[in-house]
Amino acid sequence: MLGVSGGVAAYKACEVLRGLTETGHDVRVVPTRSALQFVGRATWEALSGQPVTVEVFDDVHEVAHVALGRSADLVLIVPATADLLARMAHGRADDLLTATVLTARCPVLVAPAMHTEMWEHPATRDNVAVLRARGTVVIEPDTGRLTGTDSGKGRLPDPAGIVQIARAALAAKSELHGRRVLVSAGGTREPLDPVRFLGNRSSGRMGYALATTAVARGAEVTVLAANVSLPAPAGVRVVHVETTADLHRAALAEAPGADAVVMAAAPADFRPAGAAAHKIKKSSDGAVAPLELVQNPDILADLVCQRGEAAAPVLVGFAAETGDDAGDVLAHARAKLARKGCDLLVANDVGAGRVFDRDDTDATVLERTGAEHPVRAAAKTELAAFLWDLVAKHLAEPPRQHG
Ligand code: CTP
Repeated sequence: MLGVSGGVAAYKACEVLRGLTETGHDVRVVPTRSALQFVGRATWEALSGQPVTVEVFDDVHEVAHVALGRSADLVLIVPATADLLARMAHGRADDLLTATVLTARCPVLVAPAMHTEMWEHPATRDNVAVLRARGTVVIEPDTGRLTGTDSGKGRLPDPAGIVQIARAALAAKSELHGRRVLVSAGGTREPLDPVRFLGNRSSGRMGYALATTAVARGAEVTVLAANVSLPAPAGVRVVHVETTADLHRAALAEAPGADAVVMAAAPADFRPAGAAAHKIKKSSDGAVAPLELVQNPDILADLVCQRGEAAAPVLVGFAAETGDDAGDVLAHARAKLARKGCDLLVANDVGAGRVFDRDDTDATVLERTGAEHPVRAAAKTELAAFLWDLVAKHLAEPPRQHG
């Protein structure tokens, strides 16, 4: 489905439409009312060879938004105006296009185009961040000549490039169909007493981005969520855990039925030797009781052991590294990949406030075969898409039968 909203760049959507129909795709065009101010219904019908509907109340007997949303393999919106991004971010359904976006369960790709000031406005930035966090792929606009004599960021990318991204999304869409994947997310908490715990700064965003992306690609997804305060991703089964011991139990119990396990959570490596049954009180003489820690199990290493010689599940680890005198981030990551024995390892540089609580990330994905793939300044959803591509490559066998 090609959605078109009301901006001058709507004329370039004609070229995107041609690029898709010429490569054999059936495209239904859903323009907004204002898009028709720029390019008329006759043009869309002639180029797509399909009827064009704009209002929810047209063709009511077909319940067009439900039919279009359910049957689409991809929703592509070219151009997306600031107004359309705002309506999508708020889940509005005040025309056929936005209603269809809400019923779609396929990947949604949007190519915004607008004046630089509108693109850079905090409201638009927030809307784009919300959409990306939900798994919508928002293509960055180009910098160049805008509608008038002005130029800056906000120009629609080259239509041929948009067609290429759309075709890649269609090719990748169903590669996890019928696969079961398990993703851990968030950071574990190790209780000191009933009110205090040792924790870490993992927000769960990476794990949730992985889950959302896997659902869009047709997988059955379970998330083991350690203290994540984000809303649960749509279509995902969430199992809540608190401590590394909880996560260890849940991961080892769920992994045998899974085709892939991605350990995106940050499990605490240590826990207090014994959690106090009552709140620990300050002592009047200022003496502080020493904190005794014991080591937690290494979940990923135990998953590798449990898998033994079996081909599945594909096991993916994350390495949050800062680098030190003994080596840089990559040197530590290579050693960790070898030590843990997993198939893929995502090395994140977490020095100087990078990664935690942010939507974008710099990472290098290391394969057991020795291949290394740098992924720079990517949204966590983009890193997730790249990672699932690699997981799919490792899942060479057809889906296993699950009992
Ligand atoms: N991990 C795990 N169990 C643990 C700790 C970590 O399964 N007890 C997983 C994480 O989810 C991540 C990977 O192992 O996928 C790397 O975690 P990290 O803490 O960076 O590695 P460590 O093994 O703790 O190594 P080091 O302490 O040397 O950094």
